[in-house]
Amino acid sequence: MTNEVGRSAAPEPCTLVIFGGSGDLAKRKLVPALYNLLLDGMLPTSFAVLGIGRKAFSDDEFRASVKEGVQQFSRQALDEPRWKNFAPRIHYQVGAIDDPASYGTIRTRLEQIEATHQLPGNRIYYLAIPPDSFAPACEGLKQAGLVQDPKRLHPFSRVIIEKPIGQDLASAQAINATIGAVFDESQVFRIDHYLGKETVQNILVLRFANSIFEPIWNHKYIDHVQITVGEAEGVGTRATYYDGAGALRDMVQNHILQLLCLVAMEPPYSLDPDVVRNARIDVLRGLHPIVGKDVERFTVRAQYSQGTAHGKAVPGYRRESGIPPDSITETYVALKCFVENWRWAGVPFYIRTGKAMAKRASEVAVQFKDIPQILFNGNQAAPLAPNVLTLRIQPEEGMAWRIISKVPGSKAQTHPVEMNFKYGDAFSVPSPEAYERLLLDVMAGDASLFMRRDAVEASWQWVTGILDGWAAQQTRWLPEYSAGSWGPVEADRLIESDGRAWRKL
Ligand code: BG6
Repeated sequence: MTNEVGRSAAPEPCTLVIFGGSGDLAKRKLVPALYNLLLDGMLPTSFAVLGIGRKAFSDDEFRASVKEGVQQFSRQALDEPRWKNFAPRIHYQVGAIDDPASYGTIRTRLEQIEATHQLPGNRIYYLAIPPDSFAPACEGLKQAGLVQDPKRLHPFSRVIIEKPIGQDLASAQAINATIGAVFDESQVFRIDHYLGKETVQNILVLRFANSIFEPIWNHKYIDHVQITVGEAEGVGTRATYYDGAGALRDMVQNHILQLLCLVAMEPPYSLDPDVVRNARIDVLRGLHPIVGKDVERFTVRAQYSQGTAHGKAVPGYRRESGIPPDSITETYVALKCFVENWRWAGVPFYIRTGKAMAKRASEVAVQFKDIPQILFNGNQAAPLAPNVLTLRIQPEEGMAWRIISKVPGSKAQTHPVEMNFKYGDAFSVPSPEAYERLLLDVMAGDASLFMRRDAVEASWQWVTGILDGWAAQQTRWLPEYSAGSWGPVEADRLIESDGRAWRKL
């Protein structure tokens, strides 16, 4: 029997206004996500899209451009008749974000679109634009009377923003203040697309919908946790952004810390969005700060050198096009951290992530404590492998339990075996893309899977401690790892000096 829990409200008829409409995100992710929701019968009955951008597209040119995106990136193939019905709901308006005059035009255009599609005036503004454009966009919307009072539930105004929400704590606070000056927190949806991934959502289901995990989910039984997010691709075409960010800001501050929150949080007392978000933020607040000289003991940063990754020759990071030859931006980071509370006292969380690694593979591995060295584990020279519960986030979505089993035969031999659960085998439907779930949640006004202002700032506060510690090191070079490997020897030492080892993926 399948039970339905979670989002209580249904997605409501609305217009999605995409600032940065002619950009990559709209084409690769947003419109394909909407199209899949349409095919799955999940889109509200009345719905429209208005792309806003500097490019001089007509409605038809914009439709043709996003159609290409659907053809290339959609989870489900393009079906011409369905697209033909959907396309008239997609519109485009040329507009410059920093020109206050644009917003009057946007308002008129929105009113026309709403009249055509019989929409009630609910509007979702997706700011797919650089953070330095957030202020003029918010101000322009406010001045044009395009932001509803949050106390009036209908018609609603909501805003979606994406990372990077800042470079450090101070800049994140400034962005939040800019948005907060125009929108109430209840109207703000900060996307961390990892929270929209099926396997990531499943962490809470696994922990709190099964009786066997919670009793052992603590320092008495768990030896340590490893979180790995490996990417095979190098920096690609995003040199300017990436070189200003690096792996800690790009992956740890948001996605990986959110994974850690889900693994480490206390059971929330309900599935109410704020109750769940409060439980997540407690983990961030409990993270032991890594500051000053502690960065040397608890962190490793590195850059990829020449090698082969994802089947292609990769130049060293400093030789990638657009990267300064003396860059000290890390493309890899490994960390050891502790959540200081009763449940996790003394349990290290090891984190590693990098570009140009051996393969694309992300997982959370919970390693349980060794059993006593008696009975089947009596051979001190060859101790039994510990139990490990692995939550595979991607690409082979699933879960595995490593347990010790008897080898069939007359001898009392044991061997580690894996009990494997694969999403693809267990459920015949493919997992939706993260953006599908997230857009639907915004239409329904459910903020559970979004980052609240205090959470963004709490995670930046912790990360800024590390960034400051690194800056004080005044390093001119970083350790290297060959592209296509699993990281530098320094990262091996980080974990091996504790008598543990990175998992082989
Ligand atoms: C983005 C980062 O947030 O996440 C990228 O900016 C990274 O650098 C991407 O490649 C990873 O997302 P996914 O869903 O491919 O794991």
